[in-house]
Amino acid sequence: MSTRFLSLIPCLAVVALCAEDAKPAGPSAEVMKRGQAVYSRTCIACHQPTGMGLPPVFPPLAGSEWVAMSASIPVRNILQGMQGAVTVKGVTYNSMMPPVAGLTDRDIADVVTYVRNSFGNAGAESGSEVTEAEVKAIKAKYADRKTPWTADEFKKDAK
Ligand code: HEC
Repeated sequence: MSTRFLSLIPCLAVVALCAEDAKPAGPSAEVMKRGQAVYSRTCIACHQPTGMGLPPVFPPLAGSEWVAMSASIPVRNILQGMQGAVTVKGVTYNSMMPPVAGLTDRDIADVVTYVRNSFGNAGAESGSEVTEAEVKAIKAKYADRKTPWTADEFKKDAK
């Protein structure tokens, strides 16, 4: 082996490390596990273990354009609930989701991360993890909001 080649080895190692770093940081297995536990406690009865919902009453989270649109939408669904007509994957639902009580900011971050990265969903901000800080910011932004959201409101302001 020439010394020239040997001197390349550290460079190759650096390139390999950088390539590793460049991969989009998907949610950690730990966050997904915690999110799944929250989902099983709080969403599963309506949205089902498969995330497919129960048409025509409970809409799916799997492949939902609302889940893909932003992390804020599912967070606000949890905080204030949702009512009125909403079209999900071409089917119109017209029902009511009550606010989900008793969750910490961490629980909300975890379950929204889980939903946006499960059931064939890949987060719109590609594979990203929703943080507790983001949940706190959304909570603060909508602190005065007391009534359930509507699909029209989500369309006007998805953040
Ligand atoms: C009691 C039943 C119920 C529970 C529990 C519930 N949801 Fe919902 N959810 C609904 C219904 C019904 C709608 C549609 C409301 C409407 O028609 O306006 C909905 C709508 C949604 C939507 C927007 C529409 C869609 O299909 O993407 C999201 C996102 C959502 N829920 C997320 C959640 C998450 C996350 C949880 C758990 C933390 C949860 N829901 C718990 C019943 C429920």
